[in-house]
Amino acid sequence: MHGTPRAVATVAASTALLAAVHAVTPAGPHEWHVVHVVAEKLYVVPLLLAAGTLKLSWSLFVSLAVPSLWLNHALRDWPADPMLRLEQGGQAFSLAVIGVTATLLFERWRRASAQIQVAHEETLACLVGALELREPETAGHSRRVAAYSVLLADELGIRSASECAALTRAAVLHDIGKIGVPDRILLEEGRLSDGDWAVIRRHPEIGATLVGDLSWLRSTRELILSHHERWDGHGYPRGLAGEEIPFGARIFAVADAFDALTSRRPYHEPIPLEAATERIALDRGLAFDAAVVDAFLRVPTARWNAARAASQRSHLHHGGSEAAEAW
Ligand SMILES: [Fe+2]
Ligand SMILES: [Fe+2]
Repeated sequence: MHGTPRAVATVAASTALLAAVHAVTPAGPHEWHVVHVVAEKLYVVPLLLAAGTLKLSWSLFVSLAVPSLWLNHALRDWPADPMLRLEQGGQAFSLAVIGVTATLLFERWRRASAQIQVAHEETLACLVGALELREPETAGHSRRVAAYSVLLADELGIRSASECAALTRAAVLHDIGKIGVPDRILLEEGRLSDGDWAVIRRHPEIGATLVGDLSWLRSTRELILSHHERWDGHGYPRGLAGEEIPFGARIFAVADAFDALTSRRPYHEPIPLEAATERIALDRGLAFDAAVVDAFLRVPTARWNAARAASQRSHLHHGGSEAAEAW
């Protein structure tokens, strides 16, 4: 709502309403005098609304305009008594001070929030960078899975900014638990033993534990923990089935598989988009939620290609390689 036309309209409407009530109720004692007095006190409301919802310059303008409006009204009944004049002038001045102070405080709070946001994004990039340093083959995978997940979420009608942010963060971090897998297994190019696979299958739990300690990433914890669950209950680590699996995890299970199929791996070449789509369709209602697969099938090929290209551009911008992942 910050700085939107709706916020401007709300401030303008509340100011106009107050000024109108103030103007139609006479200043002297009368039946409706209480309304007049209350209206006078309520002039702080548009000031605080402006400070909380308008851009800095607009809010400062309101901080001067509202006291001027108030003073204009007072001048029409300007008292002869110098003390009363001082009181009227003082009230207009107080309104201006309240408006400017609230504007500056809200601005400081907004800047601090933006800095925290930047710090979060940098921490996220640092965590993913740590994984990519250990296993360069996975470079780009996390960002592609995030881009595909956002596309799927959009197709499934998930529009809430906070839900999309949690989904993107979880998708970017979904394999972060591989940090806890020993190099001997993580970097192995040959066949892995059953014991090695058991170690690799611990990566959702390691990842969930890792992010669970960061309060701002807590919303991603369940999604990371559940990204290898299957709709039919044969996934890991908890063997959840159907709607027991968080919706976000069902979304990026499809995105993860799609990227795995269409990217180069040590044991297979990337398969064409159409063939990957067919493979995912075969797992509808088995590995994957049917609703997510249906959404996946509705997205045109051009949008997948665009999402892939955009995620690779942002990855190269961050200085990584373009190779794909192993698991
Ligand atoms: Fe994984
Ligand atoms: Fe993955």
